[in-house]
Parts: sequence; structure tokens; C-alpha cells
Amino acid sequence: MIPALMPTYNRADLAFERGEGAWLYTVDGRRFLDFGAGIATSSLGHNNPHLVSAIAQQAARVIHVSNLYRIPQAEKLAQRLVAASFADSAFFCNSGAEANEGMIKMIRRAQAKGGHPERVRIICFNGAFHGRTLATLAATGNAKYLDGFGPVVEGFDHVPMNNMNAVRAAITAETAGIMIEPVQGESGINLADPRFLRELRTACDEYGLFLGMDEVQCGMGRTGKLFAHEWSGIAPDVMSTAKGIAGGFPMGAILAVENVARHLTPGSHGTTFGGNPLACTAANAVLDVILAPGFLEQVQARGALLSKEFDRLVAEYPDIFASHRGIGLMIGLQCTAPVGVVQDAAMHEGLLSVTAGGNVLRLVPPLTITEADCRTAGEMLSRAAQRARAHMAAAAETVA
Ligand SMILES: Cc1ncc(COP(=O)(O)O)c(C=O)c1O
Repeated sequence: MIPALMPTYNRADLAFERGEGAWLYTVDGRRFLDFGAGIATSSLGHNNPHLVSAIAQQAARVIHVSNLYRIPQAEKLAQRLVAASFADSAFFCNSGAEANEGMIKMIRRAQAKGGHPERVRIICFNGAFHGRTLATLAATGNAKYLDGFGPVVEGFDHVPMNNMNAVRAAITAETAGIMIEPVQGESGINLADPRFLRELRTACDEYGLFLGMDEVQCGMGRTGKLFAHEWSGIAPDVMSTAKGIAGGFPMGAILAVENVARHLTPGSHGTTFGGNPLACTAANAVLDVILAPGFLEQVQARGALLSKEFDRLVAEYPDIFASHRGIGLMIGLQCTAPVGVVQDAAMHEGLLSVTAGGNVLRLVPPLTITEADCRTAGEMLSRAAQRARAHMAAAAETVA
């Protein structure tokens, strides 16, 4: 019989009842170091006093009003995001897929209203993940995720990342824009080369295309800059972000330059929940922490500390870990052993992680992670490597 909760996930048999900092506690009293952070979402960890009290106080005042009225919390959040980024204007929604869906619409609409209604196609990249709605699935272009869901939404062309010849060859008179994750998360922490991002910017300017960035996972401080594209020195025309933006409260955002944003006139796009007082209060509380002087430098320093731990792990356990890559606190451990075995072993040692494509263990701890917790994670992964080794030796013996 089908469970009451639809079986769309392969869930680990763990149920958490509370968290504190980077630690989660199960209903049966076990504790885990959370290097998954709800898939790069619990940016301030668990039970962060500033976030919790902001949400509690706002909930007691007013949780939701419609976008038919002014929402001061949203106005404040938009002003802060605009002041801290390339953007001139922000639209708030509820998830990453919804932000990307809106970004796609904005790119098409800005072309249409700018005199090019024929420009509807968007160039995307192999290995991308943009979400689970019909258009974002088409932008993702992964056959596994599209299977059984009928006609694929038209208008997305896929090329390999970091290959400018392929991008230029894919540009046609119908191309409206280019959409890229500066750091691909789901497919295994694959970084777009900063030079490639600069060349994309040049090509967009040359052909009158809009450059869209999907910073749903890599944005909001995750890489040690507020937005990952900042590392390349260029800016997009429009960008989506979500996940960590409100520390685990569901929220997404689209940030855009005026030339894109001005075409979203009343009635052209909308959402019931997007940017409501509670969500925006949560996001403002997260920004208080992320934009505090020194915080992003601290994210970079924690990333560097973890990088040292992973150098050691790769040297000591080459049969388990092949290499590591990433930026800030968005890290992929390329495994030699099957990643499922490594993830299970880590969980047995008390460390939560997320897998990614290409046999990669994804480590995306809260941005507030302490030095001590980084070292503990390194120790847990050493023990996990030994456990995985033993597991594989036992499995090989059984086969023999
Ligand atoms: C880069 C990227 N874009 C979009 C999404 C979709 O976001 P959501 O699951 O909030 O719809 C994700 C989710 O993992 C993501 O990593």
C-alpha cells in the first residue's frame, strides 16, 4: 500500500526533533553534525537565536498579507539586496524552481518588449540543475528527470560548460539569453571557469542577449562572497537565488537590472505567498548575519580550513577519496569508493552529507560553522573512510 506521505524521496531512517548550531538531534537522542544543512539551506545552522526571535516576533504580529498591499519587510529586504548586488530591483517568491521559472519569463519578456519577440530560446549547460517545474526541468535537460512528464517545454539548448566555442555555435536569431549556475551543485560541485563567465558576459553584450545566473544553491554567502559570480568580476542581468536566503524558511528571489525588471508590469507575474512579511523578516535576519563585517571572510576561512582537512583525507585514504574541489563552504569530495558507501559510513560516524552526481560527496555546512566543528568533521570522515574500507573488504570477501 502506498504510504500516506507520497514516496518521492529515498529517505534515511532518521527523524530530527531539534537542532543547535551545526548539530541535529534525533527523537531517540542521537546527535549528528549537519554538513548537509538541508541541502545548503540552513545557512545560520539550527536554532539561531537572532533568526528564531525575528520569526517569532513577526509571527505574533502578522504572518501574511497579500501583495495587494505594501509590505515594509519586503521593501526593506529588496533595498538591502539591491544595495549589496548588481541588481536594481527584486521579486520575491517561494522556491528555487519558482525563481528560475520567473527568471526565464523575465528574459523572454524583456526581449519581447525590447522589440525582439522572436528571441525566446535560452542556452543552458550540461550538468545543470534548475528545478522541477516543467520549464525548469526543460532547462535542466536531464532525461532521467523528464521521463514520463510529457512534451518537454520548448526553448532550451544545451551545451557543455566552459566551452565558449560551443556557446557561440549555439547562438541563433532566436536566442534570448544564457542561463548558468556559476557553481553547479547537483551534478557534483563543478565550477564555471571565471574566464568563461567573463566570455559569456562579452558574448551576451555582443549579441544583445541577457545573462541569467542560477545562484539558488551557490548564492547568499555560500562561496564566501554574497553571490558566487562576484568571484569572476562580472555581473549578470538577472539572477535567481533561494535555499539559504531565509535560513530554512521557504523563499526565493529574482534580482534584475532595470532593463530586465521594468518589463514586469502589474499583472504580468505574481505569487500569493511570495515576499510575505514572515518570509521577508526571516531573510532580513539572515542578511543581518551574512552582511555583518567579516562574516563572508570567515566563510572563506572555514572553507580553507576544511580544504586542509580534505587534503589530508585524500592523501591518507586514496582508495576512498580521489580529490576535493569547491569554493567557500560549497565543497565536493570526489570519491574513489562508491559515494553511497562513503555517505553511509559518514552517517554511522555522526556526519550528515548530501551526494551529488559524478560520485561526489557534497559538503555544504551552515555558514556559521565553527573551527572546532570543521575539525570534528575531518575526524568523522577519517573514521568513515576506515569504515568504508572495512565494508568494501568484507563485501569483496563475500564475493570471493
Ligand atoms: C542550482 C539550483 N537551482 C534550482 C534548484 C531548485 O530549487 P527548489 O528545490 O527550491 O525548487 C536547486 C535545488 O537544488 C538548485 O540547486
